[in-house]
Amino acid sequence: MALQMRRRVAFYPCSGTDFETPLAILNGSVDEVIFCDIKGATRKIPTGDQYPKASFIAGDVREIVETLPEIYALFYRRDSNGEGGSGVFVLGDSFLPLILSRFNPAGGIIVTDGSNSRGGNFKKMIRRNGLQKHGFKFSPHLDQPYLDSHSLWIISAVPYS
Ligand SMILES: C[S@@+](CC[C@H](N)C(=O)[O-])C[C@H]1O[C@@H](n2cnc3c(N)ncnc32)[C@H](O)[C@@H]1O
Repeated sequence: MALQMRRRVAFYPCSGTDFETPLAILNGSVDEVIFCDIKGATRKIPTGDQYPKASFIAGDVREIVETLPEIYALFYRRDSNGEGGSGVFVLGDSFLPLILSRFNPAGGIIVTDGSNSRGGNFKKMIRRNGLQKHGFKFSPHLDQPYLDSHSLWIISAVPYS
């Protein structure tokens, strides 16, 4: 009997046209990346063997999140609550559980610079002993290959009972 591997999907909300670097970073970790922005994409998403498959959903992330398939990774960066930012607190206690509810039951990863966190969630997730919240244990990966170059943390998010 052939083993069926779970397809790994990453979701990048409020992505604008930030396609190339996230695809390069996520290559090898996921099979597909779903970008989402309230504005339609004005640039083509790069394709090629060096990138995972990608798609773009134009819409409000607060509605789109309900329609997502199972996801393995959340990628999120450079958003804000100020001018030009979404004002959606993706890493905050109201919105994060909506994303976590779409997560693979075996857990996954969050790749983020900590944008639009609330209540110190991000700061606690990257502490050595991490954070337990919303039924998940968040902790920083041992290796952080994108911290110096892109200010991005890799955080594991594993359900606990
Ligand atoms: C500060 S930009 C960040 C873009 C991208 N993350 C980057 O690094 O270049 C914020 C983006 O959020 C989008 N946005 C605003 N409200 C949104 C919403 N409710 N749902 C999805 N995207 C939204 C904006 O159109 C904009 O592209």
